[in-house]
Amino acid sequence: MGRRYPAAVTLSAALASALVAQVHHIPEQPLPFSHKQHVALPLSCKDCHSNPEPGEIEGIPAASKCMACHFSIAKDKPSIQKLKSYADLKQPVPWARVYQIPSYVDFSHRSHLEAGFKCEKCHGSVEEREALWKETDISMGGCVACHRQNKASITCTYCHENRQ
Ligand code: HEC
Ligand code: HEC
Ligand code: HEC
Ligand code: HEC
Ligand code: HEC
Repeated sequence: MGRRYPAAVTLSAALASALVAQVHHIPEQPLPFSHKQHVALPLSCKDCHSNPEPGEIEGIPAASKCMACHFSIAKDKPSIQKLKSYADLKQPVPWARVYQIPSYVDFSHRSHLEAGFKCEKCHGSVEEREALWKETDISMGGCVACHRQNKASITCTYCHENRQ
């Protein structure tokens, strides 16, 4: 008792997170951004994902918005210096997209939010995640299953208006 094995503990923590990443296919991101850490500050989803008109997208905030805090918070950390360089160059951070559907599919966040669905219904427990992965099925099958369940239309042109 009382003996500690810091190296082994660190190694197994690293292995555990590598395993989690592999099991869930977590995409590699350009910065180690953690939803868990930021939502706990607290920040709400809306502070960063504002569903601008006409309401289709939730959007991902520009680096300049992050700099409102990070001009001072953790400014000497390499990840924040990298963030600052995107902001200075007015470049978008090249985030790997997690949920993305092809452009020939019509989807509007606003319609689904107005129908009463919460973010976690389609994106899981984001507030508990260090890194995001695709937790729910947003393929055609997933969309159609929920439409059937909620008596929403499943006609082809409902989701593929721009086709034929
Ligand atoms: C401090 C700002 C911030 C807050 C607060 C925040 N997000 Fe995010 N969100 C981001 C950034 C930056 C990304 C891109 C990096 C990533 O995927 O982790 C992102 C990505 C996402 C994505 C993946 C988008 C995609 O397709 O790639 C989802 C889903 C998401 N956020 C949902 C939420 C939800 C739900 C909440 C509230 C519980 C929330 N976010 C709170 C900044 C934020
Ligand atoms: C309300 C203030 C606030 C906002 C806005 C904010 N952050 Fe943070 N962020 C923090 C705090 C506090 C920490 C923890 C700092 C620490 O551990 O020293 C942090 C930590 C981080 C870290 C980890 C730093 C490291 O290497 O340990 C990254 C990366 C990061 N934020 C990116 C972002 C991005 C990207 C955005 C914009 C989408 C953003 N932050 C918006 C307050 C904020
Ligand atoms: C009915 C399911 C559903 C709900 C509810 C939902 N989303 Fe999404 N979300 C999606 C789909 C599908 C995409 C991919 C959209 C695309 O690629 O055009 C997406 C994409 C995103 C993205 C990536 C950027 C974008 O707008 O394409 C973010 C960020 C996001 N969602 C955040 C949220 C937040 C925050 C909430 C709650 C306020 C939320 N979502 C509620 C299904 C949903
Ligand atoms: C959680 C359940 C759920 C999921 C998942 C879901 N939908 Fe829906 N969707 C609904 C409901 C319910 C309505 C009807 C809303 C109404 O009548 O106001 C709807 C309405 C729509 C509409 C018509 C509203 C408009 O803005 O034109 C389209 C298009 C649509 N969904 C596309 C999709 C696509 C594409 C996906 C998958 C990427 C998807 N939905 C996933 C429940 C869902
Ligand atoms: C509730 C929304 C919804 C409805 C209704 C719907 N689709 Fe889709 N469809 C999607 C989504 C989302 C995708 C993209 C799937 C992906 O990214 O894996 C898609 C993809 C497709 C594709 C491309 C598939 C591929 O493998 O490239 C075709 C073709 C298609 N749909 C035809 C149809 C037809 C025909 C109908 C009517 C019988 C229909 N869709 C009804 C949401 C829908």
